[in-house]
Amino acid sequence: MKCFIYPILFPLLLILTNALDPPLLTLPYSNLTLLGAHDSPFIGPHLTQNQNLNVTAQLDLGIRFLQGQTHRAPDDENRLQLCHTSCVLEDGGSLVDFLRIVGAWLEKNPAEIVTLLLTNGDRVGVEMFGGVFKEAGLDGLVFVPSGGGGGNGVLPMNEWPSVQEMVDMGKRLVVFLDYGANPSSIPYILDEFAYFFETPFGETNPSFPNCSIDRPPGATADNRMYIVNHFLNVEILGIKVPDRIRAPRTNAVRGNGSIGAQAELCEGLHGRGPNVVLVDFVDQGEVIEAQRVLNGL
Ligand SMILES: *[C@@H]1O[C@H](CO)[C@@H](O)[C@H](O)[C@H]1NC(C)=O
Ligand SMILES: *[C@@H]1O[C@H](CO)[C@@H](O)[C@H](O)[C@H]1NC(C)=O
Ligand SMILES: *[C@@H]1O[C@H](CO)[C@@H](O)[C@H](O)[C@H]1NC(C)=O
Ligand SMILES: *[C@@H]1O[C@H](CO)[C@@H](O)[C@H](O)[C@H]1NC(C)=O
Repeated sequence: MKCFIYPILFPLLLILTNALDPPLLTLPYSNLTLLGAHDSPFIGPHLTQNQNLNVTAQLDLGIRFLQGQTHRAPDDENRLQLCHTSCVLEDGGSLVDFLRIVGAWLEKNPAEIVTLLLTNGDRVGVEMFGGVFKEAGLDGLVFVPSGGGGGNGVLPMNEWPSVQEMVDMGKRLVVFLDYGANPSSIPYILDEFAYFFETPFGETNPSFPNCSIDRPPGATADNRMYIVNHFLNVEILGIKVPDRIRAPRTNAVRGNGSIGAQAELCEGLHGRGPNVVLVDFVDQGEVIEAQRVLNGL
């Protein structure tokens, strides 16, 4: 009996997690296009929630870039909580629990790397983030750039290692913070806007016509990777919420308003493909297929 079951079960187990395609493992990190889960910890069917799949399932699907908002917990100002603007609107749990989920996934998937982009809504000191990474047992796993020919401690775009090299170094988590990073205090929490620019967010036009540089102010595309905010909002009673209904079209590979269409517009404007395309509802449309296509596979 066993002889019949094993050959059937084994391939099934192998495909449970979508891996990054092998040709991408040897490219510099700064030449990859990753599809990212916007507001990855806000999971569920409500208006304020951006994802249907939990974080483990997002990673299993093939997502390798997770974005999340942090705030001080309302009941404990020394705890960082994943909340949507306010913890009353949407509370996605504590940052340490989120990090433990990511850490457990990395432990089960030793050939993979994951990138986190955290926002610092309450502008807390970066040491508080460092404390949470330590508490989750992840501080030793986070990539710390070295070299940095730029002289300002920022790793230039053409000096990034490949995914394979990061795996070999045992540095399988890359962490960016939008505001308040201070590499001289916590070297593994990187200053998002020293490395990336972003296109505007909060788009309500389903054709996604805008790829201009929104943040940091006054930035040019030179020597910065870039993040395309490709999640659609709809205004309900003057409040912008994620557009769940249009998600299959927004997250399509090609067609008007798709991931592919906005990436093409951005590439035309900035001379190279996006490094990250952030989307809501990663299970809608064809997000992983879009990731393959944008990487030229
Ligand atoms: C995450 O989602 C998967 C797939 O739906 C499910 O099997 C798993 O139990 C979920 N994990 C948690 C912690 O809820
Ligand atoms: C694109 O977004 C920027 C804000 O970052 C805004 O200033 C500009 O007017 C927008 N362009 C169009 C065509 O909507
Ligand atoms: C995309 O569709 C919108 C209507 O939803 C239309 O106004 C726009 O011209 C279309 N864009 C392209 C490039 O076809
Ligand atoms: C990666 O490099 C190729 C070849 O130079 C280029 O066409 C593509 O736009 C680059 N992608 C990114 C994300 O830099």
